[in-house]
Amino acid sequence: MRAGRAVVAKAPLQAPLHVSAHPLVREKLTRLRDERTPATEFRRLVHEIATLVLYEATADLALVDQPVRTPLADWTGARLKEKVGLVPVLRAGIGMVEAALALMPEAQVWHIGLFRDERTLRPIEYYNKLPGEATVQVCLVLDPMLATGGSAVATIDLLKKWGAERIKYVGIIAAPEGVRALSAAHPDVPIHIAALDERLNEKGYIVPGLGDAGDRQFGT
Ligand code: PRP
Ligand code: URA
Repeated sequence: MRAGRAVVAKAPLQAPLHVSAHPLVREKLTRLRDERTPATEFRRLVHEIATLVLYEATADLALVDQPVRTPLADWTGARLKEKVGLVPVLRAGIGMVEAALALMPEAQVWHIGLFRDERTLRPIEYYNKLPGEATVQVCLVLDPMLATGGSAVATIDLLKKWGAERIKYVGIIAAPEGVRALSAAHPDVPIHIAALDERLNEKGYIVPGLGDAGDRQFGT
């Protein structure tokens, strides 16, 4: 694989899967996975990796002309054509929001609260303040971990019912099981991640993964 080129693979059932091959992503992921990395550094790495994956995930956002006058001349620049909504999945997705807002300061942020039932691994919804109708055209779902895929599928179900026209999933580490589940439920939703890991263990954790992304970010 050539460094610096995103790997675009077709997961079963067609959702395009983009796994970053950027050397900086690989290097930062190594420190993120390390069990000795403390919460302060873990949060910084989540931010930095999110920035790099988001840079790749937003490469196809549509633009319209935006005229400006420089100190020397008129010039036709560009601005984003569509309104962007950032949809962090609580808790772990919170760590990716600031990175996304730094790139897209005008984006709206719509939090979705889900946690996995430890026994069934099914997502339980506990926070959702989406208004009656969609207020953005493009939604970026932010959640570092795609394990069984249940949380991502449930979030995207909500966004589609809300009326979101275009949705992308932006994460950090995925298990093949999660990619298959998300791709089967929402084949129109591209998946952008930093790494595709080996498997899930019997407790639904990604292996090798990084452990519990929420606990490691928030020191719980
Ligand atoms: C984690 C993670 C995802 C979910 C992924 O959240 O942030 O939302 O698990 O697992 P899945 O693909 O099997 O649904 P968790 O439920 O641990 O909640 P937390 O972020 O509040 O700790
Ligand atoms: N959620 C996490 O935080 N880590 C995993 O490995 C799986 C789900």
